[in-house]
Amino acid sequence: MADEVKACWEDSAEAWAEFVRTGKDLSRECFNNPSTFAMLGDIHGKTLLDVACGEGYNSRLLAKRGAKVTGIDFSARMIGLAKEEESIEPLGIEYHNLDASNLKGIGDSTFDIVTCLMVYMDFEDIEGVTREVARVLKPRGFAIISMPHPCFEMSWQNGKKVAGWVFENEGDPLNRGRPLYVKQSDYFRTGRYEINWNMPRLKTHFRTISFKRTLTDYVGVLGRHGLYVSDLVEPKPSKEALARDPSSEKHLRVPESIIFKAVKVDG
Ligand SMILES: C[S@@+](CC[C@H](N)C(=O)[O-])C[C@H]1O[C@@H](n2cnc3c(N)ncnc32)[C@H](O)[C@@H]1O
Repeated sequence: MADEVKACWEDSAEAWAEFVRTGKDLSRECFNNPSTFAMLGDIHGKTLLDVACGEGYNSRLLAKRGAKVTGIDFSARMIGLAKEEESIEPLGIEYHNLDASNLKGIGDSTFDIVTCLMVYMDFEDIEGVTREVARVLKPRGFAIISMPHPCFEMSWQNGKKVAGWVFENEGDPLNRGRPLYVKQSDYFRTGRYEINWNMPRLKTHFRTISFKRTLTDYVGVLGRHGLYVSDLVEPKPSKEALARDPSSEKHLRVPESIIFKAVKVDG
């Protein structure tokens, strides 16, 4: 299974890079990144590990804010794309092709900050990843961890939507009409799910695998590894974001994502 998860990301690397680099990842642009950077505060001069950095879009933004950034990802193609950008515009970022659940070669208590941005749902071995995040953080260092909001995220079973936004014209993907409300009829079901990235604005469609978990699961795993949640944000679009993507209005009513700040209190 781990191999299949990885193979999907390997196959999707170029399509993912096109999605992110051309501003088509509207949730990132309109509310996830603004909220993440507000939570991070001043990172100038801090050592920062960007776990599961993908093709490095956010690693580059973090480096431009003055952090000394290392990025890791288990997809060799993602890391290849990130290194290519680093050679075109050097920002002093180091990239390594590593699995987040085994950060071999990275010493204990190395980083002031670890970021895991819109990625915790993608980790199959969440226990192993959290153990590693805690290990490489300095005491009193913190992690910023984000993901789709477990209470409201879209979920499908046997081809039927069991959670997520319900639109006026549910059957028509090209003209769905107004978003009416979020339904949730399956919150406690956990496990693997597939995402078909088939939005019309994408140049190439692709498929990835993620893991559905509850809020209890996430807060529990952090606590078991000495990472205590000190802050939590459910991002909302700003006025500028609403002007750029009017469809994000629905996230003034119900959040799409959640961001945890977790401080290492042991060790
Ligand atoms: C949704 S993308 C997010 C990338 C990046 N954090 C961003 O915000 O642009 C998920 C990334 O997680 C990586 N990934 C998933 N599981 C991983 C693991 N166990 N170890 C390292 N990388 C992993 C994938 O290869 C992919 O690049």
